[in-house]
Amino acid sequence: MFSAVDVIRVKRDGGRLSDEAIDWVVDAYTRGEVADEQMSALAMAVLLRGMTPAETARWTAAMVASGETLELGELGRPTVDKHSTGGVGDKITLPLTPLVAACGAAVPQLSGRGLGHTGGTLDKLESIPGWRASLSAGEIRDRLREVGAVICAATEGLAPADRKLYALRDVTGTVESVPLIASSIMSKKIAEGVESLVLDVKCGSGAFMKTPEQARELATALVDIGAAHGLRLSALITDMSVPLGRAVGNALEVAESVEVLRGGGPPDVVELTVALARAMLRHAGVSDVDPADALADGRAHEVWRRMITAQGGDPDAELPRARHVETVPASATGTLTRLDAYAVGLAAWRLGAGRARKEDAVDHGAGVLCLAKPGDRVVEGQPLLELHTDRPETLGRVREELAAAYDISGADAKSTPLILDEVTADR
Ligand code: URA
Repeated sequence: MFSAVDVIRVKRDGGRLSDEAIDWVVDAYTRGEVADEQMSALAMAVLLRGMTPAETARWTAAMVASGETLELGELGRPTVDKHSTGGVGDKITLPLTPLVAACGAAVPQLSGRGLGHTGGTLDKLESIPGWRASLSAGEIRDRLREVGAVICAATEGLAPADRKLYALRDVTGTVESVPLIASSIMSKKIAEGVESLVLDVKCGSGAFMKTPEQARELATALVDIGAAHGLRLSALITDMSVPLGRAVGNALEVAESVEVLRGGGPPDVVELTVALARAMLRHAGVSDVDPADALADGRAHEVWRRMITAQGGDPDAELPRARHVETVPASATGTLTRLDAYAVGLAAWRLGAGRARKEDAVDHGAGVLCLAKPGDRVVEGQPLLELHTDRPETLGRVREELAAAYDISGADAKSTPLILDEVTADR
């Protein structure tokens, strides 16, 4: 028999929580027996004192056990998923899911809505007329059997302990704890029932983790939890100091994803899509197909069309467009050496692409198009950014903030690789 106060005291004093204490406290909190104020104190103790990899793996298992797991059953293909820690212009799930399915794996991509300056995958897809995010567990299995790819909302019953704890961390200053972030992310992925997983841990101004060291720490925690649960997985650490691709905002990002699926699109989006697909296929044991070919020859686009249609969407429908489109001209002639991801994400959010509260609606047509990227030569007065909005009253402030979001210089741009590292389980 445990008491919440005793469990809090152990962690407060820097001790190690026993497996039984972890199982009890997570279960009792989910059932309402441990109060919010007690769990807040424990979360703060964890944030300040940390958890060992073994404690973190056990905490994750307890969160998985708090709800149902999605039984994917016999699909006749290996299952694999991708999770990104989120960034500005990160639409990679859209081309990647049908691409990996086109290469022979089954990809159940349970996604979320956006909050703050990074967008959510479901918000992006909901800009496609008719497309429906909510599917039952049975529908998810059917779509995987028929199409091989599904992107939808997580079902309510997956890891309810995480849903409750994440809301509490959000209002108690305890989000920024690596063991709590890692267990939160992995509990949902493990409950989803996939055999393998690739994590895209972003670092830079537009990401949760600002430095490569922080990103590596999170990547290592995520991979360790997955390995302890028998998943085949690795984590790519990727740059998020610059927006990914040119489009930031829901419908704008869908349009850019379709360009990629048609064999075009910005080189950075193509590079990351193919790199993640290769890692996913490697873990899934599919070695006879190169995803670059499946992207270039239209096979991935064909799966995209079937995936969208199967969820009620019309892949040929016109996407929503904002009523006001204005450009931001370059302030000088030279090389664009910096375009800050966070500032562009914030601008898209102010223009209506994101939400401040969970219940807010997003404007699907709103966002920013980056007409130049670092390394490009620009001439004073040439359009640098294109602002799309139905809220023209936001434009003044957005222009002011974006003036500080880029640098143009006589020197060459420092080139940063997009993919910085890969953290594997057997390091
Ligand atoms: N994303 C999650 O799912 N959980 C966290 O704790 C942070 C980001």
